[in-house]
Amino acid sequence: MPIKACVFDAYGTLFDVAAAARVLAEQPGQTELAAVWPKLAADWRAKQLQYTWLRAVTGDHIPFWDVTKDGLDWAMEASGLDDPELRETLLALYWELPAYREVPEMLATLKARGLITAILSNGSPDMLEGAVDFAGVGGWLDAVLSVEDVGVFKPARVVYDMVGKRFETEPGDVLFVSSNGWDAAFAASYGFHTVWVNRAGEPMDRLPAEPAHVLDDLTGIPDLARSL
Ligand code: LAC
Repeated sequence: MPIKACVFDAYGTLFDVAAAARVLAEQPGQTELAAVWPKLAADWRAKQLQYTWLRAVTGDHIPFWDVTKDGLDWAMEASGLDDPELRETLLALYWELPAYREVPEMLATLKARGLITAILSNGSPDMLEGAVDFAGVGGWLDAVLSVEDVGVFKPARVVYDMVGKRFETEPGDVLFVSSNGWDAAFAASYGFHTVWVNRAGEPMDRLPAEPAHVLDDLTGIPDLARSL
């Protein structure tokens, strides 16, 4: 049975989350940030995700935007950066993350083939709207689904349930694409066809299921979607 929908994680998958720190570090006068930006970006992302998992376990849900701020505060302190202006600038840049270069053509190809396309993300609706608008990809997306509608972060199953509820699809009708190995793994155990976009060449996560497909970037998604 051919698939009906292609559903994407947002941060790290369609949008380059490291870009906020990287872009700012390249600006004149950012010597302090330039010295630490790779660690800052990695800590920011790692803490942001850890906080989502912990809050999903305990039920202490807050919007992803607040988790993003908490993660940055931890990361800045860990890198010895105490600069409120820098913090505000980094947070503002999170609303203008660039999409990876192959994203527009990939989404346009999927739409031209009549597939449903959507984002399914931890992101707060306003953050996602900002990212989609900034990247100019809204015209190729049928929906932008945020976990805020269910009040718990991935990988809670109710998040993956949102796809079937919205599009009246079965899990086997859906190709789910994520650059987060853990997200792709739990989407696979949920029953979606899955792709892990492993740009950094990381090892496979040791979790209850493995994503069926691994790609280096998003270029191969239309061909893969057609082959299912
Ligand atoms: C998201 C995070 C997990 O967009 O990247 O849901």
